[in-house]
Amino acid sequence: MTTLTWNDLPGHPTRWWGIPVLAAMRRDYLAVISAQRSLGDLPRQTILGERGVDVFDPELVREVMVDHADALIRWARGPEVFSQLMGQSVLVTEGPTWQRQRRMLMQAFTPRRVAGYAALMTDAAAAGLAGVQDGEVAMDTLFSHLTMDVISRTLFSTPIGADTAAAAHAVQVLSETALAEMFWPFTLPDWLPLPGKAAKRRASRLIHGLLGGHVNARRASGDGTPDLLGMLMALRDEATGEALSPQEVYDQCMVSFQAGHETSATALLWWSWLLAAHPEAQARARTEVDAVLAGRVPTADDSGAMPFLSATLKEAMRLYPPVAAIMTRRLTREITLGGVRLPARTLVRVTPWLLHRDPRWWPDAPLAFKPERFMPGAAHEIPRGAYIPFGLGPRVCLGQHFAVLEMTLIAALLLQRFELSPAGNEAPKPRMAVTLRPESGLTLRLTSRRAA
Ligand code: HEM
Repeated sequence: MTTLTWNDLPGHPTRWWGIPVLAAMRRDYLAVISAQRSLGDLPRQTILGERGVDVFDPELVREVMVDHADALIRWARGPEVFSQLMGQSVLVTEGPTWQRQRRMLMQAFTPRRVAGYAALMTDAAAAGLAGVQDGEVAMDTLFSHLTMDVISRTLFSTPIGADTAAAAHAVQVLSETALAEMFWPFTLPDWLPLPGKAAKRRASRLIHGLLGGHVNARRASGDGTPDLLGMLMALRDEATGEALSPQEVYDQCMVSFQAGHETSATALLWWSWLLAAHPEAQARARTEVDAVLAGRVPTADDSGAMPFLSATLKEAMRLYPPVAAIMTRRLTREITLGGVRLPARTLVRVTPWLLHRDPRWWPDAPLAFKPERFMPGAAHEIPRGAYIPFGLGPRVCLGQHFAVLEMTLIAALLLQRFELSPAGNEAPKPRMAVTLRPESGLTLRLTSRRAA
């Protein structure tokens, strides 16, 4: 049997070294990748002399991300852009440093440890929801404040309080600039008087000031509060007994803060829209919440007892995966993928957005909201590798148990208190920032159940 090579793969002709493709990616990344999809399950693309492939088949996705994990590093532009803010955290490091950090940090994110944060999560959510009035509510603001408060309380045992709005705005500025900069071949220094740079500098100063203040205060007080920061400080490498360095603790706080709230807020945002637009699913989820909780505040133990509520969250992340794309890796050596020889340095792109909507893996109305797909005994089995909102392989999301618990608790508290309905007729249009956001935000009508 002859082995195919990268040159044998289908690809659109490259014009002007691929510069127009980079410009198109800045405008609408998902449209560019969708155009690649029309070429098959493993098309190629060249940009600025770099060979790349898109992987659209779940089996091939697993083959590359799991079986060949040791031949992958992250595509450098992602870490370059993110490390400006997140330093040398587990999100951006590679090789032995990443292995050491990941091994240590996993101890702080096991399901058992995460269950210990449930009360902090529900305190934050209950406090945030207590301030919500009946009527039209900007859900993007609500969820980004709620999830920011959750991460602030779990990290530092402190509500985010008066800093919320400024911090939420700063995070948004940083996400927008990160994505815009990713599709330039390099990042121009932030001190240059270019459009967007002053806003980026201000946003970055604000976030560093906020987090640095908490970390320094804890170091100065030396108290052993058992929150996430306390845990990061207490972690010891099982192999060597070493602690994380002060800089690593700080960088890890930053990555938990950044990676840990915008993603969950985005998932909840799409979920709230889908439940508002599907009153029957909303009613079923609420009936389940009422039956399990009988009006009390949910705990970690309850989260597994509400399968339909969980299915609505999973289905929301299928249709609108917060990390919709740019799980891009570079090969450190030659591999054979699906019988095709790919040379070292090839870029490999995996795109949940397309895997999650492909009729071959989702034969039952792939674009429709049907939480039943995720219920026990569903009609179709989901092929492995076709549903990857948290990624897959050794670099799978470190915070996934945290995120699932947080979202389930917030969703249950919201349904206990409010009925959700659309404020207009238009379905929100998704747009890729670092996460997949509704282009013009999302406003819903909330009616408290006492008034309903
Ligand atoms: C709904 C919420 C979330 C989603 C959809 C999500 C999604 C993801 C995905 C897809 C990746 C892998 C990216 C890749 O392979 O290139 C990832 C990595 C990561 N996530 Fe999450 N995430 C969520 C919440 C969180 C939370 C709450 C935290 C921390 C508190 C967190 C921390 C991280 C970290 C540290 C990594 C990097 C892991 C590594 O490279 O070893 N995430 N996340």
